Amino acid sequence: MPTSRSVAALAVHPLQANTLHQTSIDLPELGPADVLVQTIRVGVCGTDREIIRGDLGATPAGVDSLVIGHEVLGRVVQTGPLVADLQAGDLVTATVRRPDGCPACLAGEPDMCLWLNYEERGIFRQPGFMSEQFVEDRRWLIPVPEHLAALGVLIEPLTVVEKAVRQAELIQHRLNYWDLQTALVIGAGPIGLLGTLLLRSKGARVVTLARTEQPNAAADFVARSGATYISTRTRSLDDIAAELGNIDLIIESSGNSEIALDAMRILGNNGVEVLLSICGGDHLSELPADKINTSLVLGNKTVVGSVNAGTVDFENAVRRLDDFEHLWPGLTGTLITNRLTFGPDLDLNLITGKSPNEIKTVVEFSQ
Ligand code: BGC
Repeated sequence: MPTSRSVAALAVHPLQANTLHQTSIDLPELGPADVLVQTIRVGVCGTDREIIRGDLGATPAGVDSLVIGHEVLGRVVQTGPLVADLQAGDLVTATVRRPDGCPACLAGEPDMCLWLNYEERGIFRQPGFMSEQFVEDRRWLIPVPEHLAALGVLIEPLTVVEKAVRQAELIQHRLNYWDLQTALVIGAGPIGLLGTLLLRSKGARVVTLARTEQPNAAADFVARSGATYISTRTRSLDDIAAELGNIDLIIESSGNSEIALDAMRILGNNGVEVLLSICGGDHLSELPADKINTSLVLGNKTVVGSVNAGTVDFENAVRRLDDFEHLWPGLTGTLITNRLTFGPDLDLNLITGKSPNEIKTVVEFSQ
């Protein structure tokens, strides 16, 4: 049965500032391995805002706009004849990146793409999920259990830290002994806060650093997870490091390349720092290069970049949300501070700019 239909969507003209607009798009025909999904809600993240500012993004071939949104929860409407394991009504989320033909992508890891000719839904050359419905290949859909309906929109941002911690654990196989006791999370946006929960759920002592002084919503969230929130306006990195002792793991998500690099100095011996921020500027910096170099060498420290996430990280994130609910009932959902309703009256400025005390904004498309 042909499914071609027009649906309302939110799109931009990439690399032009502030062109966010409502539009309608034609969905592609449903292929045999495809699934038609009704969008329930879509999260707004820093990348979406960079796209809206005109700093990032690319249109799919042959069109002049890009539907944004890559953090989605939806419900299956219809499946192609080759899809045997999803039914109408099932909840799903979707991975973001689609492979090119490089060896890493061919080996099943588009998140480790070598040639960087990948496509990403809502970011590079593939429409995103901020449309009333979307069509996706079954391969890229992740089933979400019904009891996670309220939290499922947080799966994609959680996968970013799932991958970060998985990378750190893989790297630490270089050691005969690694005991994750103390972790530093830099940045208290959704990624930093989900990282805080993940590391706390693994039993680590966690300190979460951010610029903003307390009290604020992120600081309350951190405290409720049993971690410690520190504002970098009140303490220096050296002071914090002196108090913490050996820092086994740093997850950097602040968006500030200066602190990302400076933190290498305070990373503990045999430690790993995972860099997650994509800093779009051309900031130059004076850093203590000799000190950083020597401490990395003498301390056998590792610094690694990590982007996007694999299917395994999505599957782990689904399970992890259950762990979080078990450990801190109701806490994870408080990350969603702002809910907007998709429709002609939607104030697009609420998507473009960050509101005071906002952690995560989501756009509601349907129930
Ligand atoms: C998304 C990733 C994506 C990255 C770079 C992030 O916001 O979560 O999936 O790979 O942006 O485009």
